[in-house]
Amino acid sequence: MSEVITVHEVGLRDGLQNQPRVVPTEGKLRLLDALLDAGLQSIEAASFVSPKAVPQMADAAEIFANLPQDRGVGYEALVPNEKGYERAVDAGVTTVALVLAATDTFNRRNINMSLDEAIRVNEAVIRRAKADGIRARSYLSVVAACPYEGVVPPETVFDLAARMFDAGADELALGDSTGAGSPPQMAHLFETLAHRYGPERLAGHFHDTRAMGLTLTWVAIECGIRKFDSSIGGLGGCPFAPGATGNLATEDLVFMATEAGFETGIDVGGLRRAVAVAEELTGQTLGGRITPFLDSREKRRAAN
Ligand code: HMG
Ligand code: MG
Repeated sequence: MSEVITVHEVGLRDGLQNQPRVVPTEGKLRLLDALLDAGLQSIEAASFVSPKAVPQMADAAEIFANLPQDRGVGYEALVPNEKGYERAVDAGVTTVALVLAATDTFNRRNINMSLDEAIRVNEAVIRRAKADGIRARSYLSVVAACPYEGVVPPETVFDLAARMFDAGADELALGDSTGAGSPPQMAHLFETLAHRYGPERLAGHFHDTRAMGLTLTWVAIECGIRKFDSSIGGLGGCPFAPGATGNLATEDLVFMATEAGFETGIDVGGLRRAVAVAEELTGQTLGGRITPFLDSREKRRAAN
């Protein structure tokens, strides 16, 4: 039996948080249905952040009240602080994703906290989650370089990872938030952390700004990592990370993983239908780097 790669779809959160057009709840649920039909089993559905900071996520509680619960799918929500955690728990969330950046300036811009304060808040929320029986994922953002402070020393990443795991984080996702990472840099981070904590507790979260998303995925696969975040059609970016484009596209990740002999349980045809829904909802032209090839393959097949 071939090995499995878990694809964690973040388009509904990382993708839609950055859209100029606020997608209505009904549209988000329609996109979710298309993602489930394509076979996605791990989904970050929303974030419980300040609606003043990110109006696109103001309906997080309504999204969670309407998630199909009969399909064995794991849903998760991003929370930036204790208030977000409480709102998420009230909405029935069972996995929270915390967000900590590796630099002081990025934390200030993203969550209006200094690095020290952000560490304390993340630790407090993780401890609370563990006490409440809630799964806690920790995002560590700008692990390669920060758009405000430049290259991030790997020791900073290792120190922050240790703080989050010591507090009880179940999983750590390394965020290359602006797509600034190089293969040797990310190999060093994943190799070291996989050795310390086990590859099964790590995930890769790559924005594809410099077309490095798949390369960095492969680097992480070689370090034993088997869980990756991606967003349908490459939707997304962070409103507080200038220059960042969308995440690695789910269809690119699934195509590459399948070509490499991994099981994902996800159907590329179904992803194409989900991309069409996301395009309709956002008014953007979307699609991963594999799109022109898939288009021409479909045309060839239709002609035969
Ligand atoms: P603040 O203004 O400093 O918050 O924002 P505050 O604690 O001073 O409270 C101010 C007001 O906000 C109060 O309301 C609070 O109740 C309310 P008021 O009294 O004025 O009516 N408030 C909240 N409301 C709803 N939900 C909450 C919440 N917290 C406070 N959770 C805060 C601080 C963290 C809230 C704000 O900066 C924020 O929401 N930031 C989120 C930014 C965000 O969503 N960024 C994108 C996600 S991170 C990302 O994309 C990176 C990632 O993908 C990984 C990668 O790529 O590397 C994860
Ligand atoms: Mg992101």
